[in-house]
Amino acid sequence: MDEKALFDTSGRQINYLRISVTDRCDLRCGYCMPKAFKDYAEPADWLSFDEIERIVRAFVDLGVRHVRLTGGEPLVRKNLPLLAHQLAGIKGLDDLSLSSNCTRMAAMAHGLRKAGVQRLNVSLDTLDPDLFQEITAGKLQKVLEGIEAARQAGFFPIRINTVVMKGINDQHIDALLAYCAERDFTLRLIETMPMGDTGRQALERFVDLQEVKRSLESRHDLIPDMLPGAGPARYYRLSGTKTRIGFITPLSQHCCETCNRVRLIVEGTLHMCLGQEHAYPLRDLLRNGIGNTELKQHLIKALLLKPEKHEFRERPEKVIRFMSMTGG
Ligand SMILES: C[S@@+](CC[C@H](N)C(=O)[O-])C[C@H]1O[C@@H](n2cnc3c(N)ncnc32)[C@H](O)[C@@H]1O
Ligand code: SF4
Repeated sequence: MDEKALFDTSGRQINYLRISVTDRCDLRCGYCMPKAFKDYAEPADWLSFDEIERIVRAFVDLGVRHVRLTGGEPLVRKNLPLLAHQLAGIKGLDDLSLSSNCTRMAAMAHGLRKAGVQRLNVSLDTLDPDLFQEITAGKLQKVLEGIEAARQAGFFPIRINTVVMKGINDQHIDALLAYCAERDFTLRLIETMPMGDTGRQALERFVDLQEVKRSLESRHDLIPDMLPGAGPARYYRLSGTKTRIGFITPLSQHCCETCNRVRLIVEGTLHMCLGQEHAYPLRDLLRNGIGNTELKQHLIKALLLKPEKHEFRERPEKVIRFMSMTGG
């Protein structure tokens, strides 16, 4: 076994770290964050950029090759391009990507690209401005401008993430597909996960994406496709076109056996699984002056806590964190 690699007790190699750089957000997607939520992490508890860089360096020494910045809304964190620049400079890190709602992207796209962010995932559940306002409490136009700015700044690939909700946006998939096809984006459909009360309430509108896939298959030939950094999504290309669609199906067909990731939240705790509470606090260790070798030993120990699988189906009541706290 490679000495410089992180393995969990199920024998899975962990080479991907997601970092939630803030638990704050300027939108309020109904399935993610409660409308009136204000109980954010205290700034004194946020990891500084230097602390994040230290943790990432330790992970990279242990074989991590991919980092995604997420949140909350990562662009809400002040000076994000500076953090991106710090991380992109780490030798051995092959891939720095970002998940964003793009409300603030128009002003930041060039800075983030220049800092070294290449791949972008964007939440977009509909192209209807009124429905968008209903789902997110935000303005669609700003988001579309942000996405266009990202495209022009050279982010590639750009993937559009859509949580499919029965009776809300399940009839909007064709319009989103056409929007993505015109711009060479990939559309990824996501099943609602019972994260926190918001996620659990949203299960009332749950759509099994196997049904959506069957309906698409009745109209198009779907050819299985591969994408770099594919993670839990299963991708297909619409025959005769360059259009790609991905399905993230944690409830109808999970793929925990290939999970390669852990998540660091803004308060410096490492979470082993979106759908479980296994966690390992790192912030106080850093602030109490541990050395780099010791830090790596802690990461190796933390990984032993990684559970075999989530239990979104069996125990939907289990996870009390909203998605915005851990970062999707
Ligand atoms: C938590 S957001 C963070 C990054 C950024 N704010 C954004 O929206 O892209 C990451 C992803 O999580 C998804 N998400 C949030 N809550 C969810 C839930 N309960 N079930 C499934 N996906 C969820 C969002 O749709 C989004 O694509
Ligand atoms: S999904 Fe993203 S944009 Fe929507 S509330 Fe959650 S963190 Fe904010």
